[in-house]
Amino acid sequence: MHNTKKIAEELYWVGASDRRLALFENVYPIPSGVSYNSYVITDEKTALLDAADAAVTRQLTENIAHVLGGRRLDYIIINHMEPDHAASLAEVLRLWPEAVVVTNAKALNMIKQFFPDIADFESVAVKEGDTLELGRRTLTFVMAPMVHWPETMVTYDSTDGILFSADAFGTFGAISGNIFADETDFDMTEARRYYTNIVGKYGVQTAALLKKASALKINMLCPLHGPVWRENIGEFVGKYMKWSAYEPEDRAVMIAYGSVYGGTANAADILASKLADRGIKGIRVYDVSVTHPSYIVSEAFRCSHIVFASSTYNAGIFPPMETLLHEIAAHNLQNRTIALIDNGTWAATAAKQMAAILEPLKNTTILETRINIKSTVNAATEELLEKMADEIADSVNQGA
Ligand code: FEO
Repeated sequence: MHNTKKIAEELYWVGASDRRLALFENVYPIPSGVSYNSYVITDEKTALLDAADAAVTRQLTENIAHVLGGRRLDYIIINHMEPDHAASLAEVLRLWPEAVVVTNAKALNMIKQFFPDIADFESVAVKEGDTLELGRRTLTFVMAPMVHWPETMVTYDSTDGILFSADAFGTFGAISGNIFADETDFDMTEARRYYTNIVGKYGVQTAALLKKASALKINMLCPLHGPVWRENIGEFVGKYMKWSAYEPEDRAVMIAYGSVYGGTANAADILASKLADRGIKGIRVYDVSVTHPSYIVSEAFRCSHIVFASSTYNAGIFPPMETLLHEIAAHNLQNRTIALIDNGTWAATAAKQMAAILEPLKNTTILETRINIKSTVNAATEELLEKMADEIADSVNQGA
């Protein structure tokens, strides 16, 4: 049975939600599910904007059929070929073989890669600034390479000021009836986790898209995941400006620790407590063995100051901490102040190896005070934790 939403004149959301998937991209936990958004425009010509994940093909096609109400589908616009949006394309083309696929040359190539057996279909390859007249509406295509794949583009409806923004401005979380962000208790934490982990590496390219978008009058943002934005768009754009520039959102401290028998965890908690004594608010402490790296990567994008505390393990970094640090480096984090603590009962080497991963991060300061715990915190290490707390608190307050 169809489940669609009219979101503007002659514009319908025809997507679907998935609450069964445990790991988005087989990597990221999505406890609140995810939506795969597709849109249909019913102007003099009809157009589908993006398909959906294979898991929701039936819902998608029932939705499209309902909105079309027997009309032909003139165009299928593909903004992004990643399978969470394009896996159902073959079925859509089987049901509406007359539709002309409108996308760019890179995406057309990917269609052949993903669907080598697909029957011939008509297509139009568009470039930056090309337009498509639907009747009342004119659509303009804007290339957005690496936001989040090289073929990604966005589509701008200049008639009504609607930007179909592909992955940009998406979020984790299923759609639960309310299609507009202003009707929901929108969870910016999940939007940040989505952006930082999925697109975060490509801040330069995201900033380039934001620059192009700043020249457009935007009344509505229609992303490929999560709710549609029609109010407070500037607030969300402001977050994207910070995230894409790798600027911390908050002058705040996050401590991530990897601990085998509790000595390193104890040091992390003592440091947090000493920071709180110095007036630092909103401190967050994470056990890297418990919290999925995607949440800590997201926190690293939020906080100005980060402490990594790791046991030494097999003469290296405690493995979950090593994974986290490589994730953070892979996502291009920049402009942070970092402090390091390691622990080793006989040969502590973790801090040196953590520094080797973190030192290449641009405009990042690693505090001179490094603490080496010998098994458990003692009076000498407690003094060093005092010193580290002073340094971090001074640094946080300097920029406040
Ligand atoms: Fe939601 Fe890059 O796909």
